[in-house]
Amino acid sequence: TAKDVAAGMGSFSPEPWLPRPLSPPGLVLAAALLLLVLYLHARRTRRPGEPPLIKGWLPYFGEALKLQKDPLGFMTTLQKQYGDVFTLFLGGNYITFILDPFQYQSVVKNQKLSFQMFTSKFLMRVFSVKKMMTYHDLNDKIHTSYQLLRGKHLDTLMENTMQTLKQVFEPQLLKTTSWDTEYLLTFCSSVIFEVTFTAIHGNVLAGDRKTFMTELRDDFFKFDGKFTHLASGIPIELLGNIKSIRTKLIKQLTTENLAKLQGWSEVVQMRQDILEKYYTPKDTEIGAHHLGLLWASVSNTVPTMFWTMYYLLRHPEAMAVLRDEIDHLLQSTGQKKGPGFSIHLTREQLDSLVYLESTILEVLRLCSFSGIFRVVQEDLTLRLESQDCCLRKGDFVGIFPPVLHYDPEIFEAPEEFRFDRFTESGKKKTTFFKRGKKLKYYHMPFGFGVSKCPGRFLAIVEIKQLLVVFLTYFDSEIIDDKPLELNYNRFLFGIQYPDSDVLFRYKVKS
Ligand code: HEM
Repeated sequence: TAKDVAAGMGSFSPEPWLPRPLSPPGLVLAAALLLLVLYLHARRTRRPGEPPLIKGWLPYFGEALKLQKDPLGFMTTLQKQYGDVFTLFLGGNYITFILDPFQYQSVVKNQKLSFQMFTSKFLMRVFSVKKMMTYHDLNDKIHTSYQLLRGKHLDTLMENTMQTLKQVFEPQLLKTTSWDTEYLLTFCSSVIFEVTFTAIHGNVLAGDRKTFMTELRDDFFKFDGKFTHLASGIPIELLGNIKSIRTKLIKQLTTENLAKLQGWSEVVQMRQDILEKYYTPKDTEIGAHHLGLLWASVSNTVPTMFWTMYYLLRHPEAMAVLRDEIDHLLQSTGQKKGPGFSIHLTREQLDSLVYLESTILEVLRLCSFSGIFRVVQEDLTLRLESQDCCLRKGDFVGIFPPVLHYDPEIFEAPEEFRFDRFTESGKKKTTFFKRGKKLKYYHMPFGFGVSKCPGRFLAIVEIKQLLVVFLTYFDSEIIDDKPLELNYNRFLFGIQYPDSDVLFRYKVKS
């Protein structure tokens, strides 16, 4: 039920970022860790040529709690005080943030700043993928498979997502025109999970499809709810039953169980072929890799879908423009709304919906709180326009796009939702300025450089398809008309969830 899914989604529970009470072995481990970190922490002082250093008073966490409470406010205060470059101690790491968008290029271009080292550690902590730490070419090979998420391969994925949307919504269309009431986040999680999982990992055999999908989805969101804890290095043993849930999820995606799914996407097929060269087919770590892909494909698309629906429900003027744009497209492609589910749109046709696209880009601008990180592989001097900046081996360099996304010099009234912000005279707008200079980087919810999200085209297409279907066939209204806030439980990692779920209702258009 809606409530069960909501209960599974730890992401909007009001828990703090710090872990829960520890078990006795956990306490010993935590105390040892704390002493070590306290010792290391006390030793660090700023050297000549290094950026200002802000350590905070909390061992290990440093300034993490302040940053989590109000990420944008905290970062802009530091920016005013220390300038565009400073080093912050966070979760056991020293991170030098570069906040001036005209300086991002020096990070992208510097070969000694490694994404691979960052990602290997992250994959080990969160998904228990160990081999990336030792086999660097495995990472390169897996990267080559991401080309199968774009171009003509994306067309195949799109066909698949539309088929699943049909499966999900067709029974609803046959219903009489009475209202269905649901929690919006629960609704979006359920649809996006099913559509994405089926397009990428394949379809479940008819009989047990619903049970399989519900169980997998509930486990997935319980695991995802502890994502930030895992990513920040808190041992999984301290996180209650998350370890057994992760083991169960990994098991569902091992070679043996994946083989039970029909119609793997090309990207999963290629990933599996690569993995079989590095692991024996029975190795459960193969399942951990597939869980990583499942997480990447669902975890940010769900809140993006949620916020898009939420803003549209609260902005009828935007909803009306989008309905009009979609109606025009359906008419001009000879697809008048008939009985049953009959919409079919190509990628080019979806791309022509500029107001729909602008709405999604605006939501991503408002709700993305990702950081982009690289590990410094050796002591080096980063040459920036305004200064040279000495960096130490093992530290991180970070870019924090929310400062850019909320810069009033670039986006007028940045805290306001303006669905047409990324349009200009009825076309897509791509020119934004700061200090009178055109910006290369102005919208970065998908990261940049080597780590730029390979699934970005699929994510946007999927959200567009779902909205086209939803706005064409259903009327909808928000029930709890309360303003929601972002819940920063996963700040620095992607699109933020809301601080609570809201009820909405929808019915087939009469
Ligand atoms: C709105 C939805 C999405 C957002 C905002 C998003 C955002 C991001 C970001 C910011 C990164 C870079 C992480 C970093 O620099 O550390 C990333 C990586 C990635 N994303 Fe997405 N993503 C979305 C949807 C998807 C989808 C649908 C897929 C489908 C497969 C996907 C697959 C991936 C993969 C595989 C990576 C890792 C790439 C690598 O290792 O270099 N993402 N995503």
